Amino acid sequence: MSKQKPNLAILGATGNVGRKFLEILEERDFPFESLKLLASEKSAGAKVKFKGKEYTVELATKNSFNGIDIVLASAGGSISKELVPHAVNAGAVVIDNSSAYRMDPDVPLVIAGVNNTDLKKHKGIIANPNCTTAQLMPPLKALHNLAGLKRVVISTYQSVSGAGKAAMDELQEQSKEHLSKGTYNSKAVNKKFAFNVVPHIDVFSEDGYTKEEIKVINESRKILDLPNLKITCTAVRVPVYICHSESVNVEFEKSVTRDEIINALKKFGDIEIIDDPKDSKYPMPIDIAGKDPVYVGRIRPDKSCPNAYNFWIVADNLRIGAALNTIKIAEIVVKDSLLLTKRS
Ligand SMILES: NC(=O)c1ccc[n+]([C@@H]2O[C@H](COP(=O)([O-])OP(=O)(O)OC[C@H]3O[C@@H](n4cnc5c(N)ncnc54)[C@H](OP(=O)(O)O)[C@@H]3O)[C@@H](O)[C@H]2O)c1
Repeated sequence: MSKQKPNLAILGATGNVGRKFLEILEERDFPFESLKLLASEKSAGAKVKFKGKEYTVELATKNSFNGIDIVLASAGGSISKELVPHAVNAGAVVIDNSSAYRMDPDVPLVIAGVNNTDLKKHKGIIANPNCTTAQLMPPLKALHNLAGLKRVVISTYQSVSGAGKAAMDELQEQSKEHLSKGTYNSKAVNKKFAFNVVPHIDVFSEDGYTKEEIKVINESRKILDLPNLKITCTAVRVPVYICHSESVNVEFEKSVTRDEIINALKKFGDIEIIDDPKDSKYPMPIDIAGKDPVYVGRIRPDKSCPNAYNFWIVADNLRIGAALNTIKIAEIVVKDSLLLTKRS
């Protein structure tokens, strides 16, 4: 099939990322022939309005994908592991937001605008990186092209929407309870979101890193095609609804000026600079939520290390970190005739 309109399915259509898929499909006027919305038993039967038409959410099963050309998947790793192979067998290209296939050598892990050429190697599955990795990739690629990345140190300030819709609801409930009673209950220590910062996202591994931190390290190396890049990360949850912020220290292979850095970031595309500290201008989640680019500010030399700079990077984790990147990939798949199905 080439540039005809695809039959689409959204797996996890009622979640944070799934609902963003719908919003962005409409914003970008993504052409499609038909649309199927899939979720668990909990939401099956629910009605969702999209582009003036009412759709009924269906229970996702292994038989849900007959006739589907593209699946936008965001139902979590275990569901992807269970259902994605059935979707590919039925002839669909799956663009998967979960961690299930990201490090599979046969699966391209792609940020649109950074490593589009990897899409040509797909065998039915294309992985979307973790949201924390995703927003790092355009600036790091631009900086690597400019002066070579020698070492990267990242500390994250991640919003609760990165943990799904339930976590956003929990932050709201916890905040209300704390303001009225001075305390609150939470389901787990690492879910004490309100009035707190939590240095624990996903589970700890034996080396003391969390899985979230390991994802940032491994996924960055894969996308940038720098398997030996020196990179480390501390991932922290903060009580913000939308937008991940990241403090990033980059040591370069060679000397660069601040102006060269700013020019390289501006020229790359999908990156905006907000960096006027005298006028208190820097990127903040409250201003960036709902926007497409990655925002960079606080660009300054690291006085403790030659050829190193500090950066503050903020982006909407539900857009570049998930739904927007997935839909940009789907657009390329259609434009470059990378679908599996050949319908007449
Ligand atoms: N949030 C982010 O910033 C972000 C960024 C990148 C990647 N991701 C990844 O995207 C995935 C979804 O994240 P999210 O934030 O959208 O989570 P979420 O808000 O919790 O939504 C989960 C979605 O999956 C559906 N689902 C759950 N169990 C299912 C089952 N057994 N069969 C079919 N559908 C099922 C849910 O349907 P019901 O309504 O029926 O429960 C819901 O639509 C995760 O893998 C996450 O790691 C998230």
